[in-house]
Amino acid sequence: MKKSYAISGVIVVLLVVLGFAFFAQNKPQKQSKPTIGILQLMSHPALDAIHQGIIKGLEDEGYQPGKNIKIDFQNAQNDQSNLKTMSAKFKNENADLTIGIATPSAQALANAITNKPVILGAITDPKGAGLVKNNEKPGGNITGVSDQAPLNEQLQLIKKFMPHMKTLGIIYTSSDDSAVAQYKMFTKLCKQQKINLKAYSIANTNDLTQVAAQAASKVDAIYVPTDNTIAGAMQTLVGAANKAKIPVFPSVDTMVKDGGVATYSIDQYQLGVATGKMTADILKGKAKPSTTPIKFFRHGKLIVNEKQAKMLGLKIPASILKEAQQKGEIVK
Ligand code: TRP
Repeated sequence: MKKSYAISGVIVVLLVVLGFAFFAQNKPQKQSKPTIGILQLMSHPALDAIHQGIIKGLEDEGYQPGKNIKIDFQNAQNDQSNLKTMSAKFKNENADLTIGIATPSAQALANAITNKPVILGAITDPKGAGLVKNNEKPGGNITGVSDQAPLNEQLQLIKKFMPHMKTLGIIYTSSDDSAVAQYKMFTKLCKQQKINLKAYSIANTNDLTQVAAQAASKVDAIYVPTDNTIAGAMQTLVGAANKAKIPVFPSVDTMVKDGGVATYSIDQYQLGVATGKMTADILKGKAKPSTTPIKFFRHGKLIVNEKQAKMLGLKIPASILKEAQQKGEIVK
């Protein structure tokens, strides 16, 4: 009897010691820093704000870059071959997770990486871009945040500014999937509301001055979707439109700051913060891409560029000015 107690005692002690040894051995591995790759299409104020927001979102969730997480940040300078090389680099270095900022980056990552999570940082139309099967149930290794703009709120705002508008112009880059997706939605909306919309497209920034001048000579106002090329060249567009005293109504806050008149915008920085939070949940194993719905923001915040409106001699409707003062933003 006593002997068998002694033996079981020894066995218990042994198991406990072995157990500790096992966990102790595994601990350093668990603590090793996850590597995440961030691929940004190009620099323009909106994408830069999204990038900064992502870092903030990760930090809020306890991930300090350089301390307990390694971030490999790459900027493709709007070059397709860079997108490919950089995605391959992330794959080769076995990044634990990658984030694509803007549609072409996300598409390049999706093509290269199929066995690790890919997070969408501000992609207008994830399903239309072929990135997920379903926005509610993505199904694969990809999920993320959409920056789809509140187009109808934006259109109503333009109508308030321009009650006598006869023709509205829209200008977009023909190779930008995100801009084209919004161009199509906006066209539908204008048709429903009997607004005469005239479309102008550019191939790249080299066309912008000429096409913008042409548009400005034919329309009463110009709308710009979330177009990566134009977001990086607002000065060119606004310069051409100013010459004809035609207001530009863009789709995001950063583009209003760069010379647009007004919009209802989804906060670009907050889009990044949301992307960073989703990334953290996935890194912690709290969520899986396949079952995490794409996050959409349905409403925008009013932002008005008072300086630009004054310069154009455009009256800001009183109700709009009040709303911007109370819960929006005014650029002076
Ligand atoms: N939605 C764009 C895309 O999918 C990226 C983007 C986010 C953007 N915010 C923007 C483009 C603001 C222009 C302006 O590619």
